[in-house]
Formats: sequence, structure tokens, C-alpha cells
Amino acid sequence: MIDYDPFAYQLHADPYPTYRRMRDEAPAHYSPEHGFWSLSRYADVRRANKDPAAFSSEGGVVVEDISFALPMIVGMDEPDHGRLRDLVKRRWTKRRILELEKPIRELARGFLDGFAGRGRADVMAELAGRLPMAVICELLSVPARDREYLLDRADTLVLREDRVNAVPEQSREGFRDIYAYFDKLVAERSGAPGDDLLGELISAERDGVISHDELLGFCFLLIVAGNETTMKLIGNLVYYLDEHADQRARLVADPSGIPNAIEEGLRYDLPVQLTARTLTRDVELHGQRMRAGEKVVLLLASANRDERQFRDPDRFDVTRDASGHLGFGIGLHFCLGASLARLEARIALEELLARLPDYRVDREGAHRVHAASVRGFATLPVEFSPA
Ligand code: HEM
Repeated sequence: MIDYDPFAYQLHADPYPTYRRMRDEAPAHYSPEHGFWSLSRYADVRRANKDPAAFSSEGGVVVEDISFALPMIVGMDEPDHGRLRDLVKRRWTKRRILELEKPIRELARGFLDGFAGRGRADVMAELAGRLPMAVICELLSVPARDREYLLDRADTLVLREDRVNAVPEQSREGFRDIYAYFDKLVAERSGAPGDDLLGELISAERDGVISHDELLGFCFLLIVAGNETTMKLIGNLVYYLDEHADQRARLVADPSGIPNAIEEGLRYDLPVQLTARTLTRDVELHGQRMRAGEKVVLLLASANRDERQFRDPDRFDVTRDASGHLGFGIGLHFCLGASLARLEARIALEELLARLPDYRVDREGAHRVHAASVRGFATLPVEFSPA
């Protein structure tokens, strides 16, 4: 029996040996404790993502019940999903995102200025956790003074109790606070919406294209998806590049390898470990019959370590060809923010490696968050020669 429990604190230290056993011994694994299936092999996870008619997103894409949450694009099937995606997708083209390079670099430099002379810092609190929130707040025209508040609220959302399949009250409060925040901001803006992202969403509500709840749910998703994931990616890369000093030295000498290192970071230790679906019909796989109405966890992070797909998958190698990884999902729900996340991570690493090339992670002080879907650090102290 393989004890796979995404809520178990013990698993969070290193889930990869468990995933390997699941791929080898129980590729369609059932958790009697929590009552859901898990698919862990690359081919199965990919196929399920590509079959939204059978694997529906509407029951929510996390393991726990979040039926109390407002509607989000990520948890919608067609045609609602397409209606929302069409509304915003032109803002997220690669070309438009690359135009943000200069302001994002200025933000990153400003955060580094704050600690580069000090010789010691917490990368999560002072860089990785701040940059994505600052960027998403700019995109949503959230006043700079409110960033810290939203950051604090977003951080509590993902936290879970040991082996408990439920959203704790403290996290629910975070949901409510973020909805209330945007409800107020939207009301303030609705007289003259403007043509920025938020203005466009407000106009879409006025024109009857989206409901008020969908508008608030969308802002909420951007705050959480845009922030928690990207900050964890940056933190993970800082950590693994410290563990592999030779690979870091290579990137310091030639920063053109950084984009590839980011893809490897997404493959090797994914900030979004899983997504979930609900079956609309019975599906048989690996001799198991999964029934309509049951929840199926798609272990993206396990797929990325599947030896059937990637050679020597447990080796971190910034020079490998990691293409085909499922870090941003695949199919209809492919991450809308992938270009933005890649850009932010590249700029953060370029600036960090240029300014503090000799940083060392204080492993004793590094602590992971205890979340079911998200994997990464809550604190990541580093020491370095002051720059
Ligand atoms: C390293 C950073 C990121 C990772 C690893 C990541 C991962 C993912 C994954 C795996 C999905 C697919 C979920 C599913 O199929 O159920 C997704 C969807 C999504 N992501 Fe990201 N994401 C990241 C950054 C961002 C950013 C920066 C934004 C926006 C600012 C964003 C916005 C979204 C949205 C809106 C969706 C839903 C798309 C849809 O349903 O059509 N993400 N992301």
C-alpha cells in the first residue's frame, strides 16, 4: 500500500520517492482516506489534460472542496472557459508581456538594492515573494500601498493542516478578504473604468459578458496564481543553484543559459505539484475503473520526473532539454501567465546572479510551506559578500 497524502507534512519534505513508487506500482492510485484517484505517469497526465470532456475542471482543480469560492476560469469547462479566456488572452501574448521587461527589471533592482549591501537576506521575503506581487498589482492597477496586505492574504490561502483534506478557516478568511478588497476597488473604478486590465474586466461586466462574481474570481485567481507559483519557482531555482554550485558558476559566466535553467527548474521541482479534475463518465485505466463523479488528481510534478519521458529525471541539469515538461499544464487550461512567469524568473535570476554571484543558502533556516498543491519555500535565508 502506498500512503500518498498531499496534505501530509511528512510528504512535503520530499514527495518524489512516493511519486516514483506510484508510477511503478500503482499508476492509477486510489486514496481510501480522502476518496480520490491519482495519475502519476507522464502519458496519463498528459492524456487526461487533453480530454476535458471526460476530465472536467468544474469540480475545482484542487483536491480540497472549494465550492465556497467564486467562479474562476481555471475551474470552468467550455463554453464558459472560452468566454473568459477570449476576453483576456490578447493581453497575455508573449509580445505584450515582453514589453514589461524594463519595468520588471527596475522593480527587481529596487528589491535587490534593499539588501545587497547587507550580506544576509531572506530571498522569499525580500525578492522572490515581492516581485510577482508587485507585477500583478501593476497589471491590476492595485495601489502600491496595498501590496503587502494582498501578499499576506495570498500567503495564508495555500496553507493546510497536517493530513487534513479541508481549507482551514484562516485560509477561507484570506479568500473573503481578497474578494472584499477587489469588490471595493472595482466599485471605486466603475465610474471611469479605463482600458487597463481591470478596466477592461469592469467594462465586460457592464456589457453583460461576465458576472460580478466572475470578475472578482478572476482578480482573485490572478493574485494567487500569478504570485504564489512564480515566487516559489524563483525560490526553488535559488535553492537548487546553490546545491549545484558548478551549474550556478556556468550561469554566472554565461547568463544566456538562464531561460533553459528556468525550464529545468519547472521540470525538476514544480511549484504547482498537481491539478485535479472530476470525471464526467467512467474511465478505465491500468485495470482500475474510475467512476463518473470521482475526483482525479493529475500529478504534474510526478509526470515531470517520469523516467518513461525524461532521461535520468532525478538529476537537476540546467543544460538539459526539458521541453515537454508539464509545468504550466497542457491543453485548454495551459497557463495564461506562462510568458510572464518566465520573464519574471529570468529577470530575478539575472539580477541576483549578477549582484550576488557567491550567495550561500542557509539550509537550517530554509523552511517549506505546507500546502497540498503548491511546493516551495516560505523562508530561504542566504548569505553573500555585500555588493
Ligand atoms: C511559475 C509560475 C506558474 C506556474 C508553475 C503555473 C502553473 C499553472 C498550471 C499548471 C495551470 C493549469 C491548471 C490546470 O490545468 O488545471 C495554470 C493555469 C493558469 N495560470 Fe498559471 N502558473 C504560473 C504563473 C502564472 C502567472 C504569473 C499567472 C498570471 C499572472 C498565471 C495565471 C494562470 C491562469 C489565469 C490560469 C488558468 C488558465 C485557464 O484556465 O485557461 N499563472 N498555471
